[in-house]
Amino acid sequence: MHALIGNDIEKAKQFLVNGDVVAIPTETVYGLAANALNSEAVVKIFEAKNRPRFNPLIVHCSSWKEAQRYVKNIPAKAQLLAGMFTPGPLTFLLDKKDCIPDIVTAGSSKVAIRIPNHPVALRLLDMLDFPLAAPSANTFGYISPTSAQHVFEGLYNKIPYILDGHTPPVGVESTIIGFDENEQVMLHRHGGISIEQMEKVTGGKVVIDNLHKNIPVTSGQMPSHYAPDTPLFMGNVHQLLQLHNGKKIAVLSFFKHYDAPEITHQFTLSHTASLAEAAKNLFAVLRLIDQLQADVIIAEFFPDEGIGRAINDRLQRAGVERKV
Ligand code: TXA
Ligand code: MG
Repeated sequence: MHALIGNDIEKAKQFLVNGDVVAIPTETVYGLAANALNSEAVVKIFEAKNRPRFNPLIVHCSSWKEAQRYVKNIPAKAQLLAGMFTPGPLTFLLDKKDCIPDIVTAGSSKVAIRIPNHPVALRLLDMLDFPLAAPSANTFGYISPTSAQHVFEGLYNKIPYILDGHTPPVGVESTIIGFDENEQVMLHRHGGISIEQMEKVTGGKVVIDNLHKNIPVTSGQMPSHYAPDTPLFMGNVHQLLQLHNGKKIAVLSFFKHYDAPEITHQFTLSHTASLAEAAKNLFAVLRLIDQLQADVIIAEFFPDEGIGRAINDRLQRAGVERKV
């Protein structure tokens, strides 16, 4: 197999209707999609990505209304948040109906539902009479793709078609939330919709649910994930430069330029100090750095607010087990 890259939605539809996988653009990262109601098609996602079967998939629907066909018991707060943030980078863990195959949820009674806010994805979903199961379109554990080219680099010989939708405007994956028995909002993964945005709408606290436990509820909770091949260290840049003196060092910062002779390559994610812009650039820059054959990446901590929390989370996971 050799993947084609194109913008032919009709062609993407044909592959999906035939039970094949297709990479699709979303507003967060590219996804690797298949008919969520067809177990055999969904198996192909796990195979192409080399993803363990215990790791469940997000089901993408064309609208919140359509999503009601696949879930039951929708908490009032889910309804409220959906009204505000769908379509958008927010994924809801809700009780699934029987029509969602067990392979999609890895046997869980909850299904992850998301309405992507991307014109190409929405048009495609509108043309289909089934929802799309889709994880990020990278090989398991590597950095999520934010271009058709990134998808191609990882999966070119595993999938038939990559639907090009240009650069995703958000750049980090969706926020994942669930609800406890008291209908409290539980955050399972930081992402495109911030805690602050959600709390403003619900008026209550969002509880951060064991994001760094070893046993994951979601793979985004696995400590080592989203990782470049180059070892990444996060923290005080000057201290880390001392520690790695003599090595080929790439520095990754928010907007600040570091002046130090030890630095071989330097990347800032937003010259205007915008966290949204930094998030949008993060994965592409990590991939770029990975090609420079630096010995180490040294990354700053980003402001722990808004989408900055998602940036810190991804960088921490990229650097886990190598942290100082
Ligand atoms: O922005 C996104 O969410 C992107 C785009 C393509 O939509 N998708 C994405 O999928 O990031 P993935 O598979 O890379 O991450 C989805 C996370 C995984 O950590 C998975 O374990 C979790 O969602 N998840 C999916 N279904 C779940 C379920 N039923 N229960 C708990 N966690 C679930
Ligand atoms: Mg992923």
